[in-house]
Amino acid sequence: MKEALAKIVGEDNVRPGDDSFYTADETIFAADGLADLVVLPGSADEVAEVVAWCYSNEVPITPRGGGSGWAGGAVPLGSGVVLGLERLTSVRSFEPLQWRIEVEAGVTTATVHRLALETGLYFPPDPGALEQSLIGGNVATNAGGPHCFKYGVTGAWVTGVEAVIAPGELIRVVGSVRKDVAGYDLAALLTGSEGTLGIITSVSLRLIPTPGQSLPLAALYPSAVSGCEAIERVMAAGPVAAAIEYLDAATLAIAGGGFPGGIPAGSGFLLIVDCDSGEADRDALRQAMAQEALDEPLAFDDPQVLWRWREGLGTLVSSHLGSKISDDIAVPIDRLAAAIEGTIEIGDRHGIAACSFGHAGDGNLHSTFMFDPSDELAVRRAKAAGDDLLAMAIELGGTISGEHGIGLAKNGWLNRQWSEPAVRVHEAIKQALDPKNLMNPGKKLP
Ligand code: LAC
Ligand code: ZN
Repeated sequence: MKEALAKIVGEDNVRPGDDSFYTADETIFAADGLADLVVLPGSADEVAEVVAWCYSNEVPITPRGGGSGWAGGAVPLGSGVVLGLERLTSVRSFEPLQWRIEVEAGVTTATVHRLALETGLYFPPDPGALEQSLIGGNVATNAGGPHCFKYGVTGAWVTGVEAVIAPGELIRVVGSVRKDVAGYDLAALLTGSEGTLGIITSVSLRLIPTPGQSLPLAALYPSAVSGCEAIERVMAAGPVAAAIEYLDAATLAIAGGGFPGGIPAGSGFLLIVDCDSGEADRDALRQAMAQEALDEPLAFDDPQVLWRWREGLGTLVSSHLGSKISDDIAVPIDRLAAAIEGTIEIGDRHGIAACSFGHAGDGNLHSTFMFDPSDELAVRRAKAAGDDLLAMAIELGGTISGEHGIGLAKNGWLNRQWSEPAVRVHEAIKQALDPKNLMNPGKKLP
């Protein structure tokens, strides 16, 4: 295997299959990641050659972007090849006047942001770990982020995808036109497929002119219920907020110390509302927030300080007890308070510390169960709590994954959320595109 693959990508771009840098992501599954080899192709054609070799030799392929995932999707399950896309870093084309860019899968999402910004353009999706996560992985998981409330998730910005599909062919679906309804929407199908249908090598993205300056506001409320009522008022206020984020009381207790505004005692809920459409809109949103808030909503002179703190929440919560299981359920907005309270109840029931924070405007919670990873009982309890959480999401009319994907973390749960015929359609699609089940096997589908 090693010799054949080294012939394609060069000796230097083949690594041992137990190189933990390439077998881990941000989840508890990372510790068990193991492959036979790590292969780092340097071009889309090399990706196709690697896939062709693997496909004809029955070798499973685990595609990998920046390894910042929260679902175990990039963690190899004991054998096969990890196919890392980090060397595909070309900007294939960038036409600011046409508001479009085509970048290879290994370009960081932060680079896409920077390139756009330099010419007065904007690429809205802002999942965390911007400097680490690669655009290919963001598209493969259809990643979200705070500003996806106003602007939509990554897939809403993808106009075309180049991918390697089985048994090793490079295809291009849709390109840089803004509209194309000629075929089935294969770009949308590959987006969010978590590497189970093909390996994305390049993406065409739509950009927009930079909106106005980000003017975030923050307000504290006594409880999740009063905070969620404020969210509904903000949504009814008229102007569309750029982002609506929340932290529950338990997250505030862990991470509130670093909050740029300070958190007074008795605070049960923090709401952050970003506005990028000017002062008048911000005033309307501020008024909606102010009712029932513990204090006047706070404005931030430097939004970057606030967003950096927000981006670090996941890591802070992880380090609280050493490890965590953190999911990304989403529920209808009018069930958000129930889901926030339900998260704590589930933690109590299992005797495990719980908290939640997330993208309130999308009803998307990062419900988290924290534990000491050396405490086996606590790990088992956290896993059981995680299962109850997914069941609660479905019961509330929501989804088991709003942005991180199924990966390994929620594998087996799709058939709890989707009806039997709908799961059958998933299986038929998988069978059509990956008849040998070698594309990220064991992920996403039951
Ligand atoms: C966040 C990541 C975990 O929102 O999705 O912080
Ligand atoms: Zn998130």
